[in-house]
Amino acid sequence: MARMSLDDKIGQMALAQPAEDLADAIRQGSIGGVLNLVDREATNELQRIAREESPHGIPLLLGRDVIHGFHTILPIPLGQAASWNPDLVRAGSRVAAEEASAAGINWTFAPMIDIARDPRWGRIAESPGEDVFLACALTRAMVEGLQGESLSAPGSIAACAKHFAGYGASESGRDYATTHIPDNELHNVYLPPFKAAVDAGVASLMTSFSDLDGIPATAHAGLLRDVLREQWSFKGIVVSDWESIPQLSIHGLTADDRESAIAAANAGVDLEMASDTYARHLAEAVRSGEVSMAVIDDAVARLLKLKFELGLFEDPYGPAIEDAQASRERALQIAHEAALQSMVLLQNNNDLLPLDTNGIDKLAVIGPLADQPYEQMGTWIFDGDPERSVSALDGLRALLGPDSEIVHLPVLETSRSREFVDLEAALEAARTADATLLFLGEESILSGEAHSRADIDLPGAQVELVQRLRAIGKPLVAVILAGRPLTLSNIVDEVDAILYAWHPGCMGGPAIADLLFGVESPSGKLPVTVPRAVGQIPLYYNARNTGKPPLPHTVVDIDDIPVRAPQTSLGMSAFHLDVAHTPLFAFGHGLSYTRFEYSNLEINTPQVAPGGSVQISVDLHNSGQRSAVEVAQLYVRDPVASITRPARELKGFKRVRVEPGQTVRVQFQLHTDDLKFWMRQHGWLLEPGRFQVWVGGNSEADLAGEFELIAGPNG
Ligand code: NOJ
Repeated sequence: MARMSLDDKIGQMALAQPAEDLADAIRQGSIGGVLNLVDREATNELQRIAREESPHGIPLLLGRDVIHGFHTILPIPLGQAASWNPDLVRAGSRVAAEEASAAGINWTFAPMIDIARDPRWGRIAESPGEDVFLACALTRAMVEGLQGESLSAPGSIAACAKHFAGYGASESGRDYATTHIPDNELHNVYLPPFKAAVDAGVASLMTSFSDLDGIPATAHAGLLRDVLREQWSFKGIVVSDWESIPQLSIHGLTADDRESAIAAANAGVDLEMASDTYARHLAEAVRSGEVSMAVIDDAVARLLKLKFELGLFEDPYGPAIEDAQASRERALQIAHEAALQSMVLLQNNNDLLPLDTNGIDKLAVIGPLADQPYEQMGTWIFDGDPERSVSALDGLRALLGPDSEIVHLPVLETSRSREFVDLEAALEAARTADATLLFLGEESILSGEAHSRADIDLPGAQVELVQRLRAIGKPLVAVILAGRPLTLSNIVDEVDAILYAWHPGCMGGPAIADLLFGVESPSGKLPVTVPRAVGQIPLYYNARNTGKPPLPHTVVDIDDIPVRAPQTSLGMSAFHLDVAHTPLFAFGHGLSYTRFEYSNLEINTPQVAPGGSVQISVDLHNSGQRSAVEVAQLYVRDPVASITRPARELKGFKRVRVEPGQTVRVQFQLHTDDLKFWMRQHGWLLEPGRFQVWVGGNSEADLAGEFELIAGPNG
């Protein structure tokens, strides 16, 4: 750094997009990193120029959105979250890192760890869902998978936890919108996944586009300096989001690009993505004293340190490409396993599923998403290889073999089509088939960044298609491919079984076939609440009680309410008149082909002191006929605290395989650190008192117990 001029330093703070004059800019030392260039020859050439021809031979950061796989596409992150399997998520992230690093990428803009409670928001697809505890576990796994044992290990790339902070709370799910997050909620819900990422050694953080209580995150010194640097001692780099620095003046925080550059740099943004306000204004701002030299030096030191840690000074080019090709089979296997474990069996009336391969001479496969290898990969798949993607139709063909007849009729060209094509043929196929599978949902373009929806019902004429098929009177299986939880109220009673496949990635087709035909039992559990109606949103299980919570039996049919009924006749509690207060499917819900029973909850001690743990154990019995995996879940409530706490919070989960007739004792360790909560002006508190616990297969579990946290020596 002592050899670098101010301009050289500011050059390191620029993350540029590919442009014609890129090579020259690198040669001059005015660029520190490039994003969205994935051609290995091109990236290698740029690294060569940086190393051999730029003033100080500093290699480049080469960033890319590797969000759920690179060439081999895994389920969307929300789908991966439904596996509740950090080991599998870690393995998937590793595969993504290896493939990306073989293309010369050394940095990914992942994981996205924004808590999301609004399924209208298109980016819920990229998120770990609504729960803090699950999000923290998956965050650690993703960071570990991407970064490996060390950043310089072959196949490792730097991770970037994003978007710091609060983006998931965008008002009404409109992307980029303002967020309203009270301080307690920010610390208890939105920040913990970022703390988990920092503790796991994440190399970088990205600021959010959103505005938090009047300060856009990209200029939020309270977040970027006080929380991140001071409270958490984060030593990695902070990057802006795409042009989020010049956008500060569109928000109305600054008058122009110059002020924006100063605000972002002073708040602690080390690297500017895509725009060039730093390049144009920082040097002068340092000379005028509006940005101190220390701010620049700190940023550049962190950027250089990351490049050293990545081993870019020794080898800026990444491992040879053949290595990645050799592991392609392994990548596909992991994608297959991830797809299998991500799918959630929401409903299975009369045990319609699994189907029996021997019982199928003729299968009707209907709906717009049965044979869409591209669409099933989901959002953020810039580098996904569509050739690797196997549709459900092909998966079914491969599983059933040539002896079964499969009649495939999409009927709707896309999920949004309103015109039926070959409807009569589809109805006839359903009439004569041994089983009818309906592939419904939304294409990948309907979720993701800037792709929010106000109405999250099945689009187009899909509901009508279901109704027409229903009229035939034969059992119906719906497989839903989507980037978000959709409101399914208008089909839930029309179909017998619902397998929620999300956008399951390239091996979604074989995984769907395996699950429908019972090669494996579904084990996914919802990482988000599925609302009945969009008007219920936000609806999340870990809400706080009101003073008037709805009673379990509070169900009102608006049609039955008499006119002139007295005001208090329906009870006075928190519910809508025209939709039940409950979700359609609760957080943590997911059925299996076997039956699981929970009993004998034991807590090893009635009292625990701060710093200790309680051990909670239950019997998990498989009373069905099949070997299957259950995700056992532990929920806790702090019933009396200085600030009101959620009615339930997930504090542990375990994936357990249980054989038919077998009983497994499942144990959870609950540390008193997990009982802490943040309170404004006090920080993290651990308050003595009674704690309730529940264990079961979803957030409505009713097997209960309790223990007491006693005061520590200091009260
Ligand atoms: C904008 C998105 O918000 C961010 O998540 C992404 O990494 C960047 N664009 C780069 O593509």
